[in-house]
Amino acid sequence: TKRWKLEKNGKLNEAMLLEAAEILKAGGTVAFPTETVYGLGADATNKNAVAEIFHAKGRPQDNPLIAHVATKEQLLDLVEDVPDYVYKLIDTFSPGPITYVLTSNGSCAENVTAGLSTVGVRIPSHPVAIALLKTCNIPVAAPSANLSGKPSPTTANHVWEDLKGRIAGLVDGGPTGVGVESTVIDCTQAIPVILRPGGISREELEEVVGKVIVDPALASTDSTDKPKAPGMKYTHYAPEVPMWLLEGGSEKVQQVVEQLATKGERVGVLASRDTIEKIEGAEKISLGESLEDIAANLYEGLRRFKQGEVDIILCETYPEIGIGQAIMNRLQKAATKYIKE
Ligand code: TXA
Ligand code: MG
Repeated sequence: TKRWKLEKNGKLNEAMLLEAAEILKAGGTVAFPTETVYGLGADATNKNAVAEIFHAKGRPQDNPLIAHVATKEQLLDLVEDVPDYVYKLIDTFSPGPITYVLTSNGSCAENVTAGLSTVGVRIPSHPVAIALLKTCNIPVAAPSANLSGKPSPTTANHVWEDLKGRIAGLVDGGPTGVGVESTVIDCTQAIPVILRPGGISREELEEVVGKVIVDPALASTDSTDKPKAPGMKYTHYAPEVPMWLLEGGSEKVQQVVEQLATKGERVGVLASRDTIEKIEGAEKISLGESLEDIAANLYEGLRRFKQGEVDIILCETYPEIGIGQAIMNRLQKAATKYIKE
């Protein structure tokens, strides 16, 4: 795996950009930063190239990929039957952390869509992602660049840890910004449906298009409700050791730390700075103060507690406001147990 570093000005030099773009055009896999998480890219029109992605990640074959493009025109070239409200969404939020699920016009290889009639399309806003997409000038299929089941990568080292030797290249662009993935929104109906909460919140979407539906399967713990985004049904974001999600703030966390400590368990606590300051008798990682900080630091936190160092991780809940919806969605998937008040 070849690893490229950015120049001091935060840009990829021309030669590296061309080299990475050539690999993509020739059917190879290249991981690159986006504003949400690192993606593992391949030519979305080349079935063999796309198959390499599934192979490298160990990803289930029935989980479709997002096609990434640099411009609105390129995005519209991949889809048909686009409702009017999608143009409003694109003009407001793209480039940015949002993925539109639309009827595919067949331009992408069939394994990108995992055989569905729809395709997820997105314009990332990270300057390195945009530069790479412009240089190769092809739609690039890119899931998060982690091994399937692990937390998504928010630094190049996370990608290296998971995929070194399994992919052709990695563009090291430093830590990503948003930290949770894009919002996936089904735009095939009269009213848009959020399939995966992400970097753009429900509130922000509703300001632009009025009513937005949240896929009922997201709120449900009943396994007979099948989520419409196939990826939402798999084990995801799992840290190396079991994690409990606790309602009830710092007092509850401290109480459970003490209960576990008397049983000889080594406890790790992942929480906001305020909570961390109040906790004693555990390994602690602060996720920061605002919900934005917490989103940005979440996956690094989930990866940092290692097997052999702690036996169990405790994590607190967050208000499901704005990006808090994406944070809570990921925490519920990462947790082995959810203890409500
Ligand atoms: O922020 C992101 O979206 C990152 C960066 C790299 O762009 N990508 C990402 O991709 O998170 P991935 O493959 O890890 O997650 C894509 C999600 C999955 O839950 C998948 O099931 C859903 O989008 N999805 C993709 N195409 C779909 C489709 N046609 N219909 C329904 N859901 C779809
Ligand atoms: Mg993923």
